[in-house]
Amino acid sequence: MRASVIWHPALPSPALPSAGTVHAIRVAGQALALWRSATGQVQAWEDRCPHRGVALSLGRVLGDRLACAYHGWEYAEGSGRCVAIPAMPHQPVPGKVCVKTYAAVERQGMVWVRLDGEATASPADDSPGEAPLRFLRSIAVAAPRSTIDTGLAAQGFSPAGPCQWRGQKAGHVLRLWVLDAATDWCLLHVASEATPSDANTGELFNALRILRDRLAHPRS
Ligand code: FES
Repeated sequence: MRASVIWHPALPSPALPSAGTVHAIRVAGQALALWRSATGQVQAWEDRCPHRGVALSLGRVLGDRLACAYHGWEYAEGSGRCVAIPAMPHQPVPGKVCVKTYAAVERQGMVWVRLDGEATASPADDSPGEAPLRFLRSIAVAAPRSTIDTGLAAQGFSPAGPCQWRGQKAGHVLRLWVLDAATDWCLLHVASEATPSDANTGELFNALRILRDRLAHPRS
């Protein structure tokens, strides 16, 4: 992983639109469960239940807790500590049972995640004068981050912030956030600075498909 990447643009905020949504995502090789609690806070947790290892992204949100889909153990927002075991309602919960949690913040319409051992500087705050963004889709590209950065520059995109690029396709001004999902593939989160009209949405999405193919196969 590149040392300069501190916060990872994990997921556009609209993908976690309200309390109760849970999403599986991979960040720099780490499988995470992202979820929004009843308080509105986004949580980034290791996607693994401490009990038997089932993916917590299969679970459901109960207010300020996430309940595992298998035996229903409930883990608290913030700490990730186990606070209830439904099958043993009259016994104390072992205090050391805890989900591994990561730092998460929302900026620029994006959920950013920081993994262990990375520096603590936050991603840039929203800039008040910025045009509203419309997130279009997240595209998986089978190429490492360095290849994608080189390819975006070759396609006329310019760096616009941490993990962020700006450029044009099919007449639309686009922002792209690049997430290092794993060593050999990335996610491109794509937003438009203006709402595409129905007339050229198809043209834009076709241009994005071509862009994905050129980034994955730069010499073809
Ligand atoms: S595997 Fe999660 S509660 Fe048992």
